Amino acid sequence: MSTDAARPAEILRVEGLKKSFPVRRGFLQRTTGHVRAVDGASLALGRGKTLGLVGESGCGKSTLARMILKLLPSDGGRILFDGSDISDWPEARMKPLRRRIQIVFQDPYGSLNPRMSVGQILAEGLRTVGVRERRAASRETERLLGLVGLSARAVERYPHEFSGGQRQRIGIARALSVGPALVICDEPVSALDVSIQAQIINLLKDLQDRLGLSYLFITHDLNVVGYLCHRVAVMYRGRIVEEADAEELFANPLHPYTHTLLAAVPDIDTPRAPAPQGAPADLPEERAAPAEGCRFHPRCPQGETRCRSYDEQWVRVGEDHRVRCWKAPVWDGGGGGKKPVET
Ligand SMILES: Nc1ncnc2c1ncn2[C@@H]1O[C@H](COP(=O)(O)OP(=O)(O)OP(=O)(O)O)[C@@H](O)[C@H]1O
Ligand SMILES: [Mg+2]
Repeated sequence: MSTDAARPAEILRVEGLKKSFPVRRGFLQRTTGHVRAVDGASLALGRGKTLGLVGESGCGKSTLARMILKLLPSDGGRILFDGSDISDWPEARMKPLRRRIQIVFQDPYGSLNPRMSVGQILAEGLRTVGVRERRAASRETERLLGLVGLSARAVERYPHEFSGGQRQRIGIARALSVGPALVICDEPVSALDVSIQAQIINLLKDLQDRLGLSYLFITHDLNVVGYLCHRVAVMYRGRIVEEADAEELFANPLHPYTHTLLAAVPDIDTPRAPAPQGAPADLPEERAAPAEGCRFHPRCPQGETRCRSYDEQWVRVGEDHRVRCWKAPVWDGGGGGKKPVET
């Protein structure tokens, strides 16, 4: 075991991760092409922090999450968890590590076994971390239920007896039962009523403070991002196109796609810069990804000829702010001297 001082500041780093799926058509289901679901995505998550992963439906957020969990093999790139490159770890080596990376899904009902009581669901997780003795398991179950704000009486009951918000609390308790360091939350509140959403978000925030958890928080909801996330990664067509601290991203969004996402949120109360002229509030219909250049250029209100061949290099625009758009102002490093564009 590494000491605290030796532990890397990043719990998770993903570098150039890729995944394509075959597109099959017709009666014979012939492969007619491939969809690049994740196409060289890179991101980093600090220990005890929350990284928001945002982007429209189908941009590859869940595929990226499944690859981080190693539920889906990647076609390329690296995954570093707690400083170790786990990209090529075989299943046997991954098994103990799976306890340290957990996921909370959007649909808690679909992910909870309806034939198991809450007590049984939690006992299953506890067994994998060696809590087998009945009284110890019962004590731990009670502690977990308390942590997520459920009564100890819940142990005897079944998932269908709970409301959506309560079921999500059970899903969170189940994730916590194995003592994770990183919890991937894949749209954990989008199926819930707005008032319940706030309760679950507050619960996640509270659990982070108490247990030092790190979250990769996947969401469509930029209001939630502003409230919960320390950093934000904006994903478009399988790639991260902008990454910054949440406050900075809202105040100084630079990728035209980020502007488009922000413009689609009418009631966000976090201060931010006005969108540049011409940025559409609604996203137009998806078109085929361009074979070359910036992936967003066919939809970009600020697109120029150069965008058709731009190879989407990162541009560093601030100490902790980077963007894949050549039009963004390159950071001068704070000292007046121009910093080179990153490769
Ligand atoms: N198993 C699969 N087989 C084929 N295509 C897939 C598979 N899983 C995902 N895809 C495709 O990969 C792309 C990314 O899907 P993904 O579910 O990761 O998007 P997402 O960002 O999570 O979307 P949403 O916000 O709707 O959950 C989509 O085009 C999707 O259709
Ligand atoms: Mg998804």
